[in-house]
Amino acid sequence: MSSGNEPDQRPTDEELAAMSREELLRLGGKLDGVEIVEYEDPWPVKGTKAEKRAERVVALWFLLAAVAGVAFFVALIWWPWQYEPPSNSDGYFWYSLYTPVLGITLGVAVLAISVGVLVYSKKFIPAEVSVQQRSDNMGKGSPELDRKTFVAHLADAGERSTIGRRSMIKRSAGLGAGVLGLGAVALPVASFIKNPWADANGPDSLAHTGWQPEFPGQIVYMRRHTGDFGEVSLVRPEDLDAGGMETVFPFRESERDDHDALVHALKRSDNPVMLIRLRPDDAEQVIKRKGQEDFNYGDYYAYTKICSHVGCPTSLYEQQTNRILCPCHQSQFNALEYAKPIFGPATRALAQLPITVHSDGYLIARHDFIEPIGPGYWERKS
Ligand code: FES
Repeated sequence: MSSGNEPDQRPTDEELAAMSREELLRLGGKLDGVEIVEYEDPWPVKGTKAEKRAERVVALWFLLAAVAGVAFFVALIWWPWQYEPPSNSDGYFWYSLYTPVLGITLGVAVLAISVGVLVYSKKFIPAEVSVQQRSDNMGKGSPELDRKTFVAHLADAGERSTIGRRSMIKRSAGLGAGVLGLGAVALPVASFIKNPWADANGPDSLAHTGWQPEFPGQIVYMRRHTGDFGEVSLVRPEDLDAGGMETVFPFRESERDDHDALVHALKRSDNPVMLIRLRPDDAEQVIKRKGQEDFNYGDYYAYTKICSHVGCPTSLYEQQTNRILCPCHQSQFNALEYAKPIFGPATRALAQLPITVHSDGYLIARHDFIEPIGPGYWERKS
């Protein structure tokens, strides 16, 4: 065994050019003080039944990954994902399976690819035993020497992995990885499959929320969630103390005995609204947005709870500072200035709901928001 740096053992450029891959491998190891003690070929006799069986096992794992990847892709696009109330037992059953089916199919695809790679490494990659001496090498090589030995190592690893002559495994691995890659692309793209501009005036479009009246003149009340989905508890101005806040949802008289509609109103993601009663002193400092001067009712202001950054619920109202906080990325909005963002990543104001009090004394929405809520549209001007 050599000791210390022995630059004289480094080959000349001519010797280097004439070296075989095997010699380059040994030289590369020597440069790093590494000696390969054992590098056993797991299949010294080629084409045995056992080798073919091992090959089929690996290919099967990759095929399973491909099948699971296709299932994920199909479920992502075609599985019934829209909310169904529990009273529609059939629809609810299939809807409730949407997320688990996505998770299981994607999980199986990733797992099968991983197991395939592991089994391949175990069965076909030669087990190498090497010894490295501490600080006992030939010293630094020239760039050309480093490049040649590195390439020789890569080529040797590729050859010893035997992947080049295992077409069944190459094809199945390509299929599994390809389908999985397709799923990875489909995941973000799938959300664009629904055209947000189609039926822009419909109740389910991105441009409208559950606060939109179904016909001209329909009264849309503010309702609180008591924990009982079927209970209708409407909101009067005197229910809130000065400086108080309550989350409210839309309610129409036509929904009163319709349990599904009552549940849906509480679950629809763009419905929650933050109703704030400002303290009288604070209310005097309010700066209203142009075109929204009459959206409040006295000291009462209503803003969507859907954050204009990426749509988290802005559930926190800080009475002392009149700030509305979004816990997701800490955006803050000024409740005294039409919920304009004053801190954090949000750049748009929270959409304001125009409100008033009906002749029966309950708070109502005068109409839907006049702009899309949340981050749904790039076109939003505010
Ligand atoms: S979603 Fe509200 S700050 Fe990001």
